[in-house]
Amino acid sequence: MKSERIYSIGVIGLGVFGARHAAVCLNHPNFRLVGVADVKEELVKKYSMELEVPGFTDYRGLLAMPEMDAVTIAVSDQFHHEPCKDAANRGIHIFLEKPIADNSAHAQEILNAARENNVKLMVGHTLRFDPRYLEIKRIIDEGQLGEIIHVYARRNATVKSGRRLQGRVDAMIFQGVHDIDFLQWLTGSKISKVYAEAASNILKDLKVNDTTMATLRFKNGVIGLLEQSWALPVDMPSPLDVELEVVGTEGSAYLDLRSQSVSIVAGGKLNQPDLIYGLPDQHFLIDEYSHFAKYLNEEVEAKVSGEEALSALEVAEAIMRSAKSGAPVLLS
Ligand SMILES: NC(=O)c1ccc[n+]([C@@H]2O[C@H](COP(=O)([O-])OP(=O)(O)OC[C@H]3O[C@@H](n4cnc5c(N)ncnc54)[C@H](O)[C@@H]3O)[C@@H](O)[C@H]2O)c1
Repeated sequence: MKSERIYSIGVIGLGVFGARHAAVCLNHPNFRLVGVADVKEELVKKYSMELEVPGFTDYRGLLAMPEMDAVTIAVSDQFHHEPCKDAANRGIHIFLEKPIADNSAHAQEILNAARENNVKLMVGHTLRFDPRYLEIKRIIDEGQLGEIIHVYARRNATVKSGRRLQGRVDAMIFQGVHDIDFLQWLTGSKISKVYAEAASNILKDLKVNDTTMATLRFKNGVIGLLEQSWALPVDMPSPLDVELEVVGTEGSAYLDLRSQSVSIVAGGKLNQPDLIYGLPDQHFLIDEYSHFAKYLNEEVEAKVSGEEALSALEVAEAIMRSAKSGAPVLLS
């Protein structure tokens, strides 16, 4: 059967997320991990030894391996475009971490390179594989809530996230694209107008916003609110305070992940672990790769196309422009 085909894949970027990708690729039935790359020699040594594959400090060495069918690109956001273009120019299919790029000009270069080389490109917007979000999408698609009137999405993280990223992108680009992409997918409509306010206080030295709040208008008339922050205290029991609310003409749906629904008190501390992203089995990533394999087999379209990922990024950029100028921004 087509879906039993095994693809040779490499992973570029072995930081927090890339290391998880490499571990998932190593054990996934549709993939054979053939190599890994990172500019940091210590990470290359560590993971090439642990995973028993060749490692490269220059990713072009990995792309030059003769058997490469596909590559995962999980480098820092601001460096996505060069390895993407190099992979596309070699005819290697791409699984790219979100956001598609750090700005829409770079994203457009990635799309052009993929198109010109007839290379498949899928972007890892993980909410589309998160069972909690998928359940809300399912009941809306079944019409249980009637027509959507308004949506609200929040993704607030501790200041540790902002500090870890050292100002390389704003929270709206790093994590806001998750919710923007999901809301556009959920409503089946693009966002056409945004108006935002942002505050910069504890992360001012990094020249990024602590918190941004935006009103959204979708082309189909739905309105929304979006809240993204890196200002929560580091000693929060849960790593993320996330909410989604959808109100329709026939009902409403709520997703509330502040407590993560599991609380553990041990060693005098309350801990509320993230049961999707924080657990070692990484089910959402396994599902992403299963879908990517079907996409490579031409059994399905990419669940998150490059064009959809670019659209989410363009909305995030418009929100940041609005917050800076104090005026609403229209999107085509
Ligand atoms: N889908 C999700 O939920 C999710 C969660 C976290 C991060 N991410 C995304 O994953 C990507 C990686 O994030 P992270 O948190 O692992 O970052 P990180 O900083 O922990 O790791 C990035 C790695 O890329 C390496 N790198 C940078 N430029 C390189 C190059 N030219 N060649 C090879 N290696 C290079 C760095 O040395 C570093 O080890 C980002 O795009 C991020 O937005 C996605």
